[in-house]
Amino acid sequence: MNLLLILTIVTTVYGIISQRTEFQCSYWEDRHLNLHANCSKRNFTSIPVVLSGIVSLDLSGNQIKVVHNKTFLNLSNLWELNLSFNRIEWLEIGAFLGLESLEILILRKNSLAYNSRHFSKSVFQPLKFLTYLDISLQRGGFEELNATWFSKYVISDLPNLQSIEIDISRDNVFREGFLSLSKLKKVKAGFCVMDANEKTFSNIPHVDQIDITDCVI
Ligand SMILES: *[C@@H]1O[C@H](CO)[C@@H](O)[C@H](O)[C@H]1NC(C)=O
Ligand SMILES: *[C@@H]1O[C@H](CO)[C@@H](O)[C@H](O)[C@H]1NC(C)=O
Ligand SMILES: *[C@@H]1O[C@H](CO)[C@@H](O)[C@H](O)[C@H]1NC(C)=O
Ligand SMILES: *[C@@H]1O[C@H](CO)[C@@H](O)[C@H](O)[C@H]1NC(C)=O
Ligand SMILES: *[C@@H]1O[C@H](CO)[C@@H](O)[C@H](O)[C@H]1NC(C)=O
Ligand SMILES: *[C@@H]1O[C@H](CO)[C@@H](O)[C@H](O)[C@H]1NC(C)=O
Repeated sequence: MNLLLILTIVTTVYGIISQRTEFQCSYWEDRHLNLHANCSKRNFTSIPVVLSGIVSLDLSGNQIKVVHNKTFLNLSNLWELNLSFNRIEWLEIGAFLGLESLEILILRKNSLAYNSRHFSKSVFQPLKFLTYLDISLQRGGFEELNATWFSKYVISDLPNLQSIEIDISRDNVFREGFLSLSKLKKVKAGFCVMDANEKTFSNIPHVDQIDITDCVI
């Protein structure tokens, strides 16, 4: 696509969106002519409609509470999605449908907890190419953990995951579902309280970098 055409599309869509939402996203193009959307810090309470060709989408620093099903259905080129610093407390079933190219998902600093009230079953299933996931620093973190359920029905669906940032509690988040993540090499702890014993990491045998510098042991 040439620049003029893209600019025309951007301006047109920008115009359409601006009639509907108060604070629009802005778009920028990198040197490979890939289109990126910046929707950060716009006070969005729900996820806005964006251009479908984008490769990255920054929705950080808004007031989004729920990610509804099929929200990202048309974003098949997206490889990075930043939802950090929102108030997300529920990932609906099918929330990430269509994100078949996504490699980086950032859910840092939201109101989630690792149980079925916050993560619907198989919500990560469409994310076959995800390599990096940050679900750390959750405000809901002290709520009841459902570690076996979470590992079995949420985390185990990410066959390409290489690196994760996650809160760690004494109840051992790394349950048997983590055994499916055969490419997982790197773990970084967010909020973290743990008992140091060798069983804690027995379900993540391929991990060679564990950053627990912020842990209370
Ligand atoms: C995205 O928009 C926010 C708010 O206007 C701004 O602070 C930030 O610098 C922008 N990010 C980029 C990469 O341009
Ligand atoms: C978002 O809301 C805050 C507080 O009401 C306000 O100070 C800020 O200017 C708003 N940001 C935008 C982009 O409108
Ligand atoms: C995601 O957004 C946060 C807040 O704006 C920012 O600090 C962080 O660098 C972003 N992460 C990535 C990988 O772009
Ligand atoms: C999908 O989302 C719509 C609203 O966007 C909602 O009405 C519907 O109940 C949701 N379906 C499921 C299965 O959660
Ligand atoms: C996705 O694209 C189709 C057709 O291109 C359109 O009808 C639909 O509204 C779009 N969905 C979203 C969530 O943007
Ligand atoms: C824990 O997981 C079970 C299914 O294994 C589910 O029935 C229950 O509601 C979950 N509890 C919480 C607090 O999420």
